[in-house]
Amino acid sequence: MDPRTIRDAFAARFGRVSEIVARAPGRVNLIGEHTDYNDGFVLPIALAQSTYVAGARRDDSIARVFSANLDDERRWPLDDWTDDRQPRWTSYVAGVAALLARRGTQVRGFDLLIHSEVPVGGGLSSSAALEVAVALVLAGLAGERLAPVETVDLCRAAEHSYARVPCGLMDQYVSLLARAGTALLLDCRSRHYEHIALPLDGHVVLVANSGVHHELAAGEYARRQQQCQQAVAYFHALDPRVRALRDVTPELLDEHAPRMPSLAVARARHVVTENQRTLAAATALRRNDLEAVGRLLCASHRSLRDDYEVSCAEVDQLVAVLHGVDGVLGARLTGGGFGGCVVALARAEAVDQIEEEVRTGYKGGVDSQCRLIRTDAGPGAAIEFP
Ligand code: GLA
Repeated sequence: MDPRTIRDAFAARFGRVSEIVARAPGRVNLIGEHTDYNDGFVLPIALAQSTYVAGARRDDSIARVFSANLDDERRWPLDDWTDDRQPRWTSYVAGVAALLARRGTQVRGFDLLIHSEVPVGGGLSSSAALEVAVALVLAGLAGERLAPVETVDLCRAAEHSYARVPCGLMDQYVSLLARAGTALLLDCRSRHYEHIALPLDGHVVLVANSGVHHELAAGEYARRQQQCQQAVAYFHALDPRVRALRDVTPELLDEHAPRMPSLAVARARHVVTENQRTLAAATALRRNDLEAVGRLLCASHRSLRDDYEVSCAEVDQLVAVLHGVDGVLGARLTGGGFGGCVVALARAEAVDQIEEEVRTGYKGGVDSQCRLIRTDAGPGAAIEFP
């Protein structure tokens, strides 16, 4: 979308000119699922689809926010936002504004207009895109530029304490730090990251939306974190150097599995093997071996489905339909799970056939219409208009 469209929409809505427009992309995680909060590795790309936010200061201390997608305007006094009075989407704005103010940024009243191309509840990080775009605009309105890592931490803290989702740090990182044409290999412990070229060359990344709306706050996501912690506690008691599942090797897990609760073993096995798959996928990308990446995506899906149990019947069916098409190198659930999207790597010439098979073969989903998005690895967030 042309950022000028957002500037014009802001002017039409509020009858004045916006001072700043920011864009922050959603993301699709190629591999490395449920590893970020286990100090592990992730390999996401930024979507070509973004959330745009236009903003201008006000003379009072009122937050007035218009969602163009929902055609919904909300306002609240800056120091008096409460979640029982406002819809959930406002929590991302209120959280970022409050945490910016807490760190000393001069957050005065503001008008914001939000327009998002990122599907909500599809596991594509629409929330991180919104947080990051709002952070860029509000810091910009205060005449400040935050360091990227500070923005990541602030947005993640807003998600924890305002949206009440105990997310890891993958989504905000990639929304902010992605580079076009590359995947971001992030070590979630050291926070070291590397942009790895995505040699698509005759191939495409496809995102297929199952239409099943996921809701991370519903408790299963937090429960997975607790189950991982139980496994960590077991190994920590044996060796205090084990601080996260990142520190557990497949051999160590196999050795102790017979003495551990079977659920903790299954959860840990997913994380431990997913870290290995993620590093293997990065290595495969570096040598342009997309076939190998595709095989790793398939193995990741099986692990998410059987060991981590975050898939659902509709997503499994969608993955099966995709796997059945010649030219699909691999497909798997992406994002937090319990619905949402599937990411697939495929040969470009197979796209028509994939569309046809998904249209006729996929039966699930609340709105039962699976939407396929073909995406490039896009750039990270930016201020589009000063
Ligand atoms: C959600 C969270 C991320 C990550 C994924 C699962 O998207 O926001 O931090 O944990 O789930 O990989």
